Amino acid sequence: MCGIVGILGTKPVAVDLVDALRRLEYRGYDSAGVATVENGHLERRRAEGKLRNLSERLTREPLNGLAGIGHTRWATHGAPSERNAHPHMSENVSVVHNGIIENFRELKDELMRAGAVFASDTDTEVIAHLISYEMRKGADPVAATKNALARLRGAFALAIIFAGHDNLMIGAREGSPLAVGHGDGQMYLGSDAIALAPFTDQITYLDEGDWAILTREGVEIRDRQGRRVDRPKVTSQASGFLVDKGNHRHFMLKEIHEQPEVISHTLSNYMDMASGRVRFPDLGIDLAKVSRVTISACGTAYYAGLVAKYWLERYARIPVEIDVASELRYREAPLPENGLAVFVSQSGETADTLATLRYCKAAGQTIASVVNVRSSTIARESHVVLPTLAGPEIGVASTKAFTCQLAALACLALAMARARGQLSDERERELVKALLEVPRHMSTLLRDERRYDELAHWMSKSRDVLYLGRGLSYPLALEGALKLKEISYIHAEGYAAGEMKHGPIALIDENVPVVVVAPEDDLFEKTVSNMQEVAARGGRIVLVSNADPESIGCPVAAHVRMPQVHPFVSPIVYALPMQLIAYHTAVLMGTDVDQPRNLAKSVTVE
Ligand code: AGP
Repeated sequence: MCGIVGILGTKPVAVDLVDALRRLEYRGYDSAGVATVENGHLERRRAEGKLRNLSERLTREPLNGLAGIGHTRWATHGAPSERNAHPHMSENVSVVHNGIIENFRELKDELMRAGAVFASDTDTEVIAHLISYEMRKGADPVAATKNALARLRGAFALAIIFAGHDNLMIGAREGSPLAVGHGDGQMYLGSDAIALAPFTDQITYLDEGDWAILTREGVEIRDRQGRRVDRPKVTSQASGFLVDKGNHRHFMLKEIHEQPEVISHTLSNYMDMASGRVRFPDLGIDLAKVSRVTISACGTAYYAGLVAKYWLERYARIPVEIDVASELRYREAPLPENGLAVFVSQSGETADTLATLRYCKAAGQTIASVVNVRSSTIARESHVVLPTLAGPEIGVASTKAFTCQLAALACLALAMARARGQLSDERERELVKALLEVPRHMSTLLRDERRYDELAHWMSKSRDVLYLGRGLSYPLALEGALKLKEISYIHAEGYAAGEMKHGPIALIDENVPVVVVAPEDDLFEKTVSNMQEVAARGGRIVLVSNADPESIGCPVAAHVRMPQVHPFVSPIVYALPMQLIAYHTAVLMGTDVDQPRNLAKSVTVE
């Protein structure tokens, strides 16, 4: 993962590098560093932990170079310490890297035999030594980099600077995204256009295998074979403003509260409000003839896809295959003719999802992606993009992106149902009306957050928490458990309520809260039976439901009262208590809610 940036500037670049890194912190925040070319030699500053530690270090020990690179890290090889922080250096080369060099061990052994002395435990450091090794053999920086790139296996986006070369920076892309920014007498590299937004909106995205030679006068791009290639320059829409928390204590809370508005925006993109019908973009495929839908994604986005599977099967009567992206791509799953493959991703950069997209594309599927970042790699490689209009999501725990994904996928399900003759006009209007009521239900629920206080006190003292749900509520149980564990670090598991008796029931005692997601739908009675099984073993039920706790015939320790909503939209509305239970529990426990340990917002490694 990690975020990288590079600047060939006309004034000292360290402060701008840190500014750009601030926009890339969502990619990792274990450590950060910058290096510049100063009076012909390389100088660097690095710091463990958040970016502010690097800023403080630079205030004490400034850098004055006009050419520099920067990095914010999510550790893969080597602990998150200063010694492993990027940039990494050899005697005359400094490099920042996003990705993983798979053959770094063999390269390291070879370079050590040739006399290289390594100062970190990272895979990245081999790149600097490898380029230096080529330069010692007589190659200039460009030729040395070309030779070194040919020997690297794995995924990388790189920015490289050289001692003695104040007007040269090389970038390379293989598997990880990299953008070139064009300024006026200044040039930039960045993991994405957002990082470069304060400096330029003129962006060229590198293709796989491309590498770019930058000077202040411009850029020359070459492909994997070393041939000069033209890549288009586009105007980026990324905003230069850093999003702030407003009056909220955390980005996560702000983003939870934005949901009524951003869900409305997303829905209005796919609906004709006047007629109460879905208005869907042309997918370039006859929806009536789609033989199967394959859905793939990771984490919370996968759970959005799982809800969509239930919707598509039930309302459009179409078979749906779904798997997490890290599995689907390696299963060698056969894919059907006339298949539609749907990828769901907030960032649009998740490496596993992207690789699975490419697998499905190569197998002839029509590729649709539900993404929040329009300029992302997943969006650019899809045949059709179904945007979510959630706006930038900063908190690592996905909240508004999830509910906007659900909103877009619900519209896809209705569009398919209509195309396949499974949806009468009347039924379509009923379901569209239900969707349009979601923002109002969410606003009402957001007016009373105090009800989570007591529950959070109790949850924060638990070691384990179970989440149960059936049907459309099953993915919500999974999402509730993921949300709680990722920000509070409490062990939580989500299960299909009917599966509990096949194993998880052994965990239940009076210390284990069991959160049951149970809207009064056609499966409610079955879920009530499962609650009774929990109660019979002394388990403490947290009922999240519009039903009266008295009606379930067993003791309920806590009740999150929900409004009566149409069963079709319950997963969107019930996402809110899942988010708020996790949020308030984490706040009480004093964890870093927006940047929880070991995680990153955008996961660009396999
Ligand atoms: C959600 O709270 C997580 N942080 C994580 O599971 C996330 O949804 C997953 O990594 C997928 O990210 P994407 O939507 O950017 O592809």
